[in-house]
Amino acid sequence: MPSSVATAVPERDPYAISPGVASAAKRQHWVDAFHAVRQETERRAAPLSDEDQLVQSMPDASPIKWHRAHTSWFFEQFLLLAHHPAYRMFDPQFAYLFNSYYVAAGPRHARPARGLITRPTVAEVTAYRRHVDAAVADLISTAEPEKLTDLVPIVEIGLHHEQQHQELMLTDILHAFAQNPTAPAYETGWRMPNVKGSTSGFVELAQGIHQVGYEGGGFAFDNEHPAHRSLVGPVRVARGLVTNAQWLAFMADGGYDQPMLWLSDGWARVEAEDWAAPGYWQSVEGQWMSMTLAGLRPVDPNAPVCHVSYYEADAFARWAGQHLPTEFEWEVAARTGELWGADQLVWQWTRSAYAPYPGFATLPGALGEYNGKFMINQMVLRGGSHATPEGHTRVSYRNFFYPWARWQFSGLRLASYH
Ligand SMILES: [Fe+2]
Repeated sequence: MPSSVATAVPERDPYAISPGVASAAKRQHWVDAFHAVRQETERRAAPLSDEDQLVQSMPDASPIKWHRAHTSWFFEQFLLLAHHPAYRMFDPQFAYLFNSYYVAAGPRHARPARGLITRPTVAEVTAYRRHVDAAVADLISTAEPEKLTDLVPIVEIGLHHEQQHQELMLTDILHAFAQNPTAPAYETGWRMPNVKGSTSGFVELAQGIHQVGYEGGGFAFDNEHPAHRSLVGPVRVARGLVTNAQWLAFMADGGYDQPMLWLSDGWARVEAEDWAAPGYWQSVEGQWMSMTLAGLRPVDPNAPVCHVSYYEADAFARWAGQHLPTEFEWEVAARTGELWGADQLVWQWTRSAYAPYPGFATLPGALGEYNGKFMINQMVLRGGSHATPEGHTRVSYRNFFYPWARWQFSGLRLASYH
């Protein structure tokens, strides 16, 4: 199950990158971490047929086969071609097919048409993965000590990149399966994890200047830097997540029928797409059911609401007489350890626009396109979900999506200023 995924990428590199030091243990550490993450991708793909792996159910979702190939291309493009003198490409045409959005890395296939790529086959993509796996393991094992110091950060970002795609594999196949009237299950036993802890009341934050963003010697994405100070509070951040029962009350009170609750763009979306419930919900003989990774299941009133957009989260908060927290209010509250299910159930929308931190700088070269160029028109989500590989996120981690997106595992917690 996604919730039982073993930690693959260590939060901290115990063999911290120090010039001139390249012990056998350090090499083995990174070879092991590499294989663990690559295998997790294959484990997530294993329940899926070749037909499942080809489908692209909307332009924002990608075929599973594409995810498996693209994450391999990432290592080929940024690690092997740049640093492995003897590397031979598996197929030079794959660079065009499996580059996602890296303009500096060359031309690429149109994203909305990824589902039309029947060749290479799933078996050929598997062979491509094995080819890249062998070359990366060879490079880590044989690189000159000074060279290894340069390579480890690329291996590391490649692994965190692949973990992000592991979550997308589940969000994207769920969207595909939700289009199927037979509501197939990805995994019949899938359930939201049981998370212990208090769900009542608020974490109270007095006014103060707090450090936010990533500090430390481990891995963090560039968008979590630089750490800086922010004025936070007074604010109260809910310990619990908004539940399906609360969402049903919002619906029963006409939440989707009252334009005064909605942002203008959100109300336009409600009208254009006939939103009357969270994504994947459908009423079956008077009972609300939801498409999940286990197929169509009754909506559990006690579970956190999932598959809501920013627009819906914002409208709900207004209806409840409360607010969404800013990303810094969320982060400072999460550092207390008192937010129930902070990173285990659903991502949580914040009311912060996805913007650069003061002094933000992208990585050099094409990898500078990883995060920075998306810092416009999107909103930040914090935490993590039941589909996030264990150990992937941090308290400073910033996820981001367009405000209308609802195919991610996205929910909310509330904040109050009174
Ligand atoms: Fe990617």
